[in-house]
Amino acid sequence: MKESGISGVGLGFRREIAQSILTWQHERPSFVEFAPENWMGIGGASRQVLDRVVENYPIACHGLSLSLGSPEPLDWVFLRALKRFFQEIPVRLYSEHLSYCKCDNAHLYDLLPIPFCEEAIKHVVERIRQVQDFLGRQIAIENVSYYCAMQSEMDELSFLTAVLEESDCLLLLDVNNVYVNAFNHGYDAKGFIEKLPLDRVAYMHMAGHEQRFEDLIIDTHGDPIIDPVYALFEWTVGKLSRKVPVLLERDFNFDNFSQIQEELSALRKIVDKQWVRDEQSVYICC
Ligand SMILES: [Fe+2]
Repeated sequence: MKESGISGVGLGFRREIAQSILTWQHERPSFVEFAPENWMGIGGASRQVLDRVVENYPIACHGLSLSLGSPEPLDWVFLRALKRFFQEIPVRLYSEHLSYCKCDNAHLYDLLPIPFCEEAIKHVVERIRQVQDFLGRQIAIENVSYYCAMQSEMDELSFLTAVLEESDCLLLLDVNNVYVNAFNHGYDAKGFIEKLPLDRVAYMHMAGHEQRFEDLIIDTHGDPIIDPVYALFEWTVGKLSRKVPVLLERDFNFDNFSQIQEELSALRKIVDKQWVRDEQSVYICC
């Protein structure tokens, strides 16, 4: 696998915390991630903010609207704009969700689960291959949280593994999403992770969620990470044979910024405990 060029523990770049990230002095994030859709084709003051963040941090982009599972053709207008954007700024890693958000003329803010079936595997694999060929890079796809599996012929693990291997793409492993799905759908999170093709993990996400009911948690990205998710993350990091970048996702509740800094430190501590660097600067698992 080609190295992405980013490493360490990064933070999602949001307009609400742009100034804090740009003026951050000590123990800064190792990189930042943002949605390209929020920054493509902009000018003025927003473009200046973008230019400053690009000057100061390595960049990962995490897309929202590619809609890999949609039944209609890929949006080539969007893809051409995305390719131009990647020529303008040095995006080290591009990832998207294994989900869909568009159908006919409707574009939703929600990322909906793709039916876990053979027909969907063929469809999504073809689309991921087209995207990778067009952009001239491997992309990473993220395991998404979902609350209702649609017309499943197989389990999520079989579906995700088949998509990864047949499309030859990378995996963005969101550990919190595994925790949320395992809790809501009653499966074993560690059993799920250890059966994944872990050699394809290129990137990891961590985030907080909200417990709405006794038997339902919602993937909100607005709350602090809970201890069982840290524990699952630490266990997962120990299973990987090489170091990958890790991102802290936080979409709202920015008032307590020191809490975000503490979460970054906690993630760093886990990563540093699990992985050491050998003399050739290649990270190995200890
Ligand atoms: Fe994520």
